[in-house]
Amino acid sequence: MSTTHHTWPRQLRLPGQVAAPEGPIDMQMMYVMHHAFRRDLDLFSAAVRNTPASEWATWVLLEERWELFAEALHEHHTIEDDGVWPALEALGTEDEVATLTAMEAEHGEIDPLLEGCAAGFRRLAQPVRQHADEDARAALAVRVSAARESLRRHLAHEETEAIAIIQRLLTQEDWDRIEEAHVGKPKLGKVVRLVPWAAYGVPREALERVFSQPGGGGFRLVWRLTRRGFARKHARTFRFA
Ligand SMILES: [Fe+2]
Repeated sequence: MSTTHHTWPRQLRLPGQVAAPEGPIDMQMMYVMHHAFRRDLDLFSAAVRNTPASEWATWVLLEERWELFAEALHEHHTIEDDGVWPALEALGTEDEVATLTAMEAEHGEIDPLLEGCAAGFRRLAQPVRQHADEDARAALAVRVSAARESLRRHLAHEETEAIAIIQRLLTQEDWDRIEEAHVGKPKLGKVVRLVPWAAYGVPREALERVFSQPGGGGFRLVWRLTRRGFARKHARTFRFA
């Protein structure tokens, strides 16, 4: 016997994703973002291990890409901490509230790890250096791998437990209201930077699904205009990864 409600949406599943709890809310944008976070941390981890400290131009690109990644992740966590978990805390059981408290605590652990990584990338991207800073590269490799482990654990925990709570307690209308209140109208410059980044490596069929949602047509257009330039820069950024 299937427990899937016949009106519930089919949930998106992307590479690396650990779970996609069934329920009334289509969590596709959440999963697209989680995919991008996992993808970037895997790439950063390989790039920091394999990019020679003397490859200054590549470190400048890596530092720039880290800024984009960190901005997107920070925003994602802020929306969850300010909008999503509080909406659930008012409705949940004691066990559910404990899971939501853990989500916030995990965000709090990840943020300083990201700060440490940002400082390392900035140092390696500095224009004037007497000699290649091999120690800084090795130290950054340790930091990026710690951030990667920590974020992977957190995303798995969120996908298995916290999203299951979202699906149990909220409706699609509740979800839309939270998004409206906390996401805000994105500026064009930001859309142009984030769309090709979020879409990179997402299977074509999944992208089509996202673009065919209400309001998705604008994203499709931006993606078409930006994806080639993004892919070229991506290849240069991660050329040693
Ligand atoms: Fe999330």
